[in-house]
Amino acid sequence: MTATPATSMTPTADGRPEMEGEVFWPAPEVVQHTIVPDWDALAQRADHDLEGFWAEQARELDWYTPWDKVLDESNKPFFKWFTGAKVNIVYNCLDRYMHTAIRNQVALIWEGEKGDSREISYAALNREVCRFANVLKGLGVAKGDRVTIYMGRVPEIAVAMLACAKLGAIHSVVYGGFSVDALAGRIDDSQSRLAITCDGAFLNGKIVQLKQIMDEALTRCPSIEHVVVVKRTGAGVAMQSGRDLWYHDLMADPAISDVCPTEVMDAEDPLYILYTSGTTGEPKAIVHTHGGYMVGIYATLKMVFDLHPEDRWWCAADPGWVTGHSYIVYSPLLNAATSLMYEGAPAFPQPDRWWALIEKYRISILYTAPTAIRGLMRFGDDWPGRHDLSSLRLLGTVGEPINPEAWKWYHRVIGHERCPIMDTWWQTETGMFMITPTPVVGLKPGSGTRPFFGLRAEILDEAGNPVPDGEEGYLVLLRPWPAMLRTVYQDPDRYVRQYWGRYPGKYVTGDSAKRDRDGYYWVIGRVDDVIKVSGYRLGTAEIESALVSHPAVAEAATIGLPHDVKGTAIHAYCILRQGETPSDALAAELREHVGRHMGPIAKPEAITFVDKLPKTRSGKIMRRVLKARALGLPEGDISTLEE
Ligand code: WTA
Repeated sequence: MTATPATSMTPTADGRPEMEGEVFWPAPEVVQHTIVPDWDALAQRADHDLEGFWAEQARELDWYTPWDKVLDESNKPFFKWFTGAKVNIVYNCLDRYMHTAIRNQVALIWEGEKGDSREISYAALNREVCRFANVLKGLGVAKGDRVTIYMGRVPEIAVAMLACAKLGAIHSVVYGGFSVDALAGRIDDSQSRLAITCDGAFLNGKIVQLKQIMDEALTRCPSIEHVVVVKRTGAGVAMQSGRDLWYHDLMADPAISDVCPTEVMDAEDPLYILYTSGTTGEPKAIVHTHGGYMVGIYATLKMVFDLHPEDRWWCAADPGWVTGHSYIVYSPLLNAATSLMYEGAPAFPQPDRWWALIEKYRISILYTAPTAIRGLMRFGDDWPGRHDLSSLRLLGTVGEPINPEAWKWYHRVIGHERCPIMDTWWQTETGMFMITPTPVVGLKPGSGTRPFFGLRAEILDEAGNPVPDGEEGYLVLLRPWPAMLRTVYQDPDRYVRQYWGRYPGKYVTGDSAKRDRDGYYWVIGRVDDVIKVSGYRLGTAEIESALVSHPAVAEAATIGLPHDVKGTAIHAYCILRQGETPSDALAAELREHVGRHMGPIAKPEAITFVDKLPKTRSGKIMRRVLKARALGLPEGDISTLEE
């Protein structure tokens, strides 16, 4: 079957289409008040006139100079969007509101894990961003320079990102849960001139030693000239004189101006790079732009979550991942909404922390990951039951497939069967939601429903033929979209090979999926060497290299196996060096070693010591075989297995 963009369904007597399986429909009042009340009509229009649809969205934002062309396909797969246009995403996030009433509206509500809180208006955020941009300028940061940001969840992370973007500098945010090796590798690859960090971050009642980890990483990263340090914990840290500077000292300098012109950028100029793990080897940096990315994330958040300026939006992800970039920092500001950022852990100090936050700040939309839902579900219904969750209007999920049991709990206990759940499938590479419902469509627990307006997807077999509905295959995307990655930083060949090489003209997602006869997509999971642990994207190669950096380990292989809360957990198989003896103590030491080098999220759940690993004759580890053996499943085609 060819791709059907706007599946037309047969309506039943009550006006709703007849569909396969269990379907949850929104209440009429939800439909009436949404920005896009008629899904089919817009889907058809966008499919027939892709450029017209995106131009219409783009016109809702401000441009210094309009575009000559919406989509330039002359050098595929290096697609360009809004060519000829001049723009800066920060102009649309902040500058344009300074002469309107929005300037006094709250842009960001922040709550620390200890309960301290801040409310920052659009005007105050703009002022802070201008000042910090001037500070960065004073430190020599200019358009095109890379800046590494390694911070906790504090408002200053948004300030840092926006200040870079304002100057046209390219930010590279490294998730604060990563450790020395991961950080050093990412700084080195990006050749950043400046790093921004915190003295530490509060998490689960403890302090994450961000500055200390940064110091260790910097022993290997000569490109960094200065480190700006935000004081969060107040616990003493070593400051290297000449290199390290306190954020609050720099910002207090009376010579720093509150005014800073926003750099006029080409629509296709890079906004940021973000490292993510891919099919093979080292993590690679995905490149996103000022123009197309801005339009894509603006339109998706507005339409999928029906976001209005009076909404209180809470995306509970970490700003260090793409979800946080698009939907904590940039898009809520583009939509003039109020957004909550919470510093700490969901169940700290008690399992109702999140529900208390929703009640306290009257949150209207909560967007989180299945792992968090499963984790909080374990504590039972009483904790959410103690709080008034009536402010909630919509819910959302992202990061991995959601099991129907967790979906239904979320729907019933948190949404009181009133709030539709937007299960949004997308990736670091896509920049924006791709397969997703809107509030008006029928929902099936576990399915992201259908491709967003203007998109088409297909499920293919090995040979590139579409599989029949109901069968599993490789999920690919057929049409370009404005927030798509433009390339892999400094490695255009890898961009072409990895994403467009397998099926010419089609974008390979790395996921397997099924489509049902209603045209709904069911993503199953990764088909490459990526493991999604609690929704976090990790590469087997990076974890394995952390393992073999331990003197006792000769070789290592890692796979993901199902886990009740994490979704997938890392299992490692290690061959020890001659003279080393397997023991529980050594396994524990290796787990710690990975945690210290790569980050706590990368710690293997279990380590098994083995004498041999299944390999192909060319020496490639067959993780697929390891996984099948661990799960007691058939090993499949093992004709290439060496013996
Ligand atoms: C998975 C996160 C099922 C998928 C935004 C994808 C999902 C990878 C969903 C990208 C979802 C994300 N349902 N699977 N709603 N959302 N995934 O780059 O495997 O960290 O390829 O981006 O997460 O992870 P990334």
